[in-house]
Amino acid sequence: MRLLVTGGAGFIGCNFIRWLRARHPEHAVVNLDALTYAGCRASLAELEGREGYEFVHGDILDLRLVNSLLERVDGLINFAAESHVDRSIDDPDVFLRTNILGLRVLLDGLRAQQARGRRLRLLQVSTDEVYGDLGEGGGRFTEETQLAPSSPYSASKAAGDLLLQAWRRTFGVEAVLTRCSNNYGPYQFPEKLIPLMIWKATRDEELPVYGRGLNVRDWLYVEDHAEALWTVFTRAADGAVYNVGGNNEWRNIEIVRLLLRKLGKPESLIRFVGDRPGHDLRYAIDATKLERELGWRPRVDFEDGLARTLDWYSDNKAWTGGLHRRMEDGTR
Ligand SMILES: NC(=O)c1ccc[n+]([C@@H]2O[C@H](COP(=O)([O-])OP(=O)(O)OC[C@H]3O[C@@H](n4cnc5c(N)ncnc54)[C@H](O)[C@@H]3O)[C@@H](O)[C@H]2O)c1
Repeated sequence: MRLLVTGGAGFIGCNFIRWLRARHPEHAVVNLDALTYAGCRASLAELEGREGYEFVHGDILDLRLVNSLLERVDGLINFAAESHVDRSIDDPDVFLRTNILGLRVLLDGLRAQQARGRRLRLLQVSTDEVYGDLGEGGGRFTEETQLAPSSPYSASKAAGDLLLQAWRRTFGVEAVLTRCSNNYGPYQFPEKLIPLMIWKATRDEELPVYGRGLNVRDWLYVEDHAEALWTVFTRAADGAVYNVGGNNEWRNIEIVRLLLRKLGKPESLIRFVGDRPGHDLRYAIDATKLERELGWRPRVDFEDGLARTLDWYSDNKAWTGGLHRRMEDGTR
């Protein structure tokens, strides 16, 4: 099969492509990415020019380009998105553009293929943030939890989820959806918690932590997410929705302290800063449906995943440094 992967130059997309090419080399990948500030073509440099991998620079909102690519593939996994909550608070428009209108173009591209007798499957990569905030209480998100997004980012992702549902029902498009918790691992843009803290701590810079760092997130190693996505893409029933999670909840401050310990740096580097507006206190994912129905479960425990992540960032300071400069310059 030849697969169109959109947003494959970003964090999860590039890890997915690397995972797929290593585990299932019989499947070829066409990677369409606009190379926004978060996209890094060099993250897949070792695949460039090799059989089974092709990079296309372009925007998912370009319907003509999307149509021409869909002509020559057998399925589509969409990672293309604006993904950083803080940026969505500063400038929501680009989130609405890519996460909603961009998905609409992909869905319309699938409709066009369908009209020509080619029914291609879409896997839309969504997020647990669409469920909103669990607050102080217990409980975990299931696939039946009502969507209640808090940020412009999560609202745009939730809108995408609803669009997908409507395009399935009204136009018969074939699509499946996953909602995953926080990922960590190699090649994550250094504006996100774990790579940001590693970068700053290794340079003995202050580590900014929102509020008192009490927000709770569930963490999953990115390769485990890749395997979950492939499982859902290849085996889920049309229209299925699956949560994906690591069963691995941590307060942000605990993660920061753990990283400092592993890096041999003092806690005095921590600096608490004013909280993010609308900051959700707790997310927790119940991924038992995916385990029960399709047999997926995370393989990498947190200790091991974090060790691999720390090693990778230590060996790839030039990669992080380049993207960090881009972030500080505000270049896109
Ligand atoms: N990172 C996480 O922890 C996490 C958790 C759950 C779900 N997700 C979801 O997974 C997906 C991928 O997340 P990520 O962390 O890899 O994001 P990312 O920001 O690292 O990468 C996004 C990629 O999409 C590309 N892109 C953006 N706009 C585009 C456009 N209009 N056309 C083509 N390409 C475009 C960017 O260039 C970049 O390569 C997102 O949909 C996100 O909502 C992320």
